[in-house]
Amino acid sequence: MNIAVFVSGGGTNLQAIIDNIKSGYLDGVNIALVVASNDGAYALTRASENGIPAVVKSVKAYESREAWDEDVLNTLIEKNIDLIVLAGYLSLLGEKTVKQYSNRIINIHPALIPSFCGKGMYGIKPHEAVLARGVKVSGATVHYVNENYDEGPIILQKVVDVLPSDTPEVLQKRIMKECEQVILPKAIKLISEGKVVIKNNIAYVEE
Ligand code: GAR
Repeated sequence: MNIAVFVSGGGTNLQAIIDNIKSGYLDGVNIALVVASNDGAYALTRASENGIPAVVKSVKAYESREAWDEDVLNTLIEKNIDLIVLAGYLSLLGEKTVKQYSNRIINIHPALIPSFCGKGMYGIKPHEAVLARGVKVSGATVHYVNENYDEGPIILQKVVDVLPSDTPEVLQKRIMKECEQVILPKAIKLISEGKVVIKNNIAYVEE
């Protein structure tokens, strides 16, 4: 299965996918392309250190959002991409790409959807909101992507306790390590093995 990993920042989730391919856990999965939303993303360094082809597709570099969408989609088709993985990608994909790759795009979100998600809830923000609300558990969610932020069928979730000593940064790190970097590779594996089925907007996982 050829995947394209979309990134905007540090790329710890990309690294987790790379490590799980190297270990053999993601047998048969190939990162055919990394797509970055900006040329400053450290994830690009991780791609080049691992010999993975990478491109920068910044919407600002195009005359319109539609032109950007079309170019992204053509690049994915050229590379025979089967699954798009949004791994810390902080933009919305274009409409054509979402339509063409319907039920073949997944995203990792650093909170337990449907809480602490939606427009503006990215990066450190969900963790700040979690602490401000005083909830006692948080975690991460892998879900399919449709045209609205964080609304597609949920594939996997993993939970951690929120501790009285947590700062947003401490909580973020724990969720990245204990939740995101576990369930994102796991979801890719399940999909590559044909073990995820969507019916009436619900994802059913055969484990
Ligand atoms: C991760 O915590 C990811 O869940 C989050 O951005 C971070 C990227 O880290 N994504 C979102 O907030 C999307 N709504 P990374 O670049 O080190 O993988």
